[in-house]
Amino acid sequence: MAASLSLRYTGTAIALHWLIALLLLGQFAFGLMLEDIPRGTPARGYYVNLHKSSGILIGLLILLRLGWRLTHKPPPLPETMPRWQRHAARFSHIALYACMLALPLSGYLASNFSRHGIKFFNAVHWLPWGPDDKALYTFFNGAHHLAALLLALLVAVHVLAVAKHILIDHDGLLLRMWPRRSAQASRLPANQPVENQ
Ligand code: HEM
Ligand code: HEM
Repeated sequence: MAASLSLRYTGTAIALHWLIALLLLGQFAFGLMLEDIPRGTPARGYYVNLHKSSGILIGLLILLRLGWRLTHKPPPLPETMPRWQRHAARFSHIALYACMLALPLSGYLASNFSRHGIKFFNAVHWLPWGPDDKALYTFFNGAHHLAALLLALLVAVHVLAVAKHILIDHDGLLLRMWPRRSAQASRLPANQPVENQ
């Protein structure tokens, strides 16, 4: 295994990566399910507000993750990886973060340019701070839709790239983002250099 591929992300970064990946998957399916609920029915209002509320909590977790990422350097990619692949990895990670931020933000903004606002977990009504503006609502709703589509595409490419590392390169890249308890990961050195922190 190339030397820098034996370096790992911090436990916090790994926990946040997998927790957010799972939550996003569920939230994405929830969003698609909303399309099957007829508009103007009480069920629609109930589930849309649940989607908004869980989305806001996921958004806060994403902010926490971004804060962690900006204050903790990730392990460097190995020099043995072609330059274009290292650039592509960096670019795709930035694009993933951008979509992860754009999704909850666009949903939140759209909700505040509609008279409905947000009923947080159907319990507390947060009145909209913006005007009931159809054009702005449509713009941010469109951005929400686009960000969801882009995120799905980027995650598909991300998973294919990881699969390539596992099946073709056999370089152990997945272990950098895998919880330490796994049999293979526990064979990695216990104390990693500072750049891994
Ligand atoms: C955090 C991650 C989120 C994900 C992955 C997500 C995903 C989705 C998806 C896939 C849809 C269906 C397709 C579409 O119309 O775009 C959707 C619809 C929707 N989302 Fe989200 N969403 C998230 C957060 C939020 C937040 C924070 C809000 C508002 C505060 C929100 C409000 C809405 C609304 C109102 C719809 C229905 C749009 C319509 O049918 O006109 N979402 N979401
Ligand atoms: C919603 C789903 C996912 C999202 C949004 C996501 C997002 C990300 C992001 C933004 C990074 C860069 C981390 C950083 O440098 O801060 C990353 C790294 C990574 N992800 Fe994911 N991920 C998802 C699902 C997955 C899945 C399903 C796998 C496994 C097949 C995976 C494996 C990895 C690995 C191995 C790394 C580390 C890459 C490296 O060492 O440079 N991810 N992910």
